[in-house]
Amino acid sequence: MTHAVCPGSFDPPTLGHLDIFGRAAGLFDQLTVAVLVNPDKRGMFTIDERLDLLRATTAALPNVVVDSFQGLLVDYCAANDIRAIVKGIRAVSDFDYELQMAQMNHGLTGVDTLFIPTAPAYSFVSSSLVKQVASYGGDVRQLLPDVVASALADKINSSAG
Ligand code: PNS
Repeated sequence: MTHAVCPGSFDPPTLGHLDIFGRAAGLFDQLTVAVLVNPDKRGMFTIDERLDLLRATTAALPNVVVDSFQGLLVDYCAANDIRAIVKGIRAVSDFDYELQMAQMNHGLTGVDTLFIPTAPAYSFVSSSLVKQVASYGGDVRQLLPDVVASALADKINSSAG
């Protein structure tokens, strides 16, 4: 069985992420979307909220499972018999760091990284920019799954109140 992972912070997941999940899920028997638990970085959404949002947005993809991990991604891959890491590349500016991580990960355990070019419609979309624009009242609904757009609006409304 071919098993790949899409790792990330997903704070929150965007339509750009979802596009990559769908395309990666078409290439492997199983795809795990894995949220990094980073104790040094507090996000807008808790890990449990991100897992719930990811489960809701990938519900229509039967071979996708959602999980979280701590520590090195290569250790998570080894423990789960995952042979490929899949990353979306939005622009050349993503590539330098992604290449560095891919080479480091391959050097550590031999796990390979595959890059999927992001759909042009989402090439400018990032979780951090979406949060920033939304926090100043900008409309980002067209960049997010509906369930994420509602959750983001709730977060911003509750922090404003
Ligand atoms: O969505 P992000 O924040 O760009 O995702 C980055 C992520 C989670 C893929 C990367 O930080 C990662 O793999 N972290 C786990 C720790 C690790 O393995 N670090 C060494 C990378 S070479």
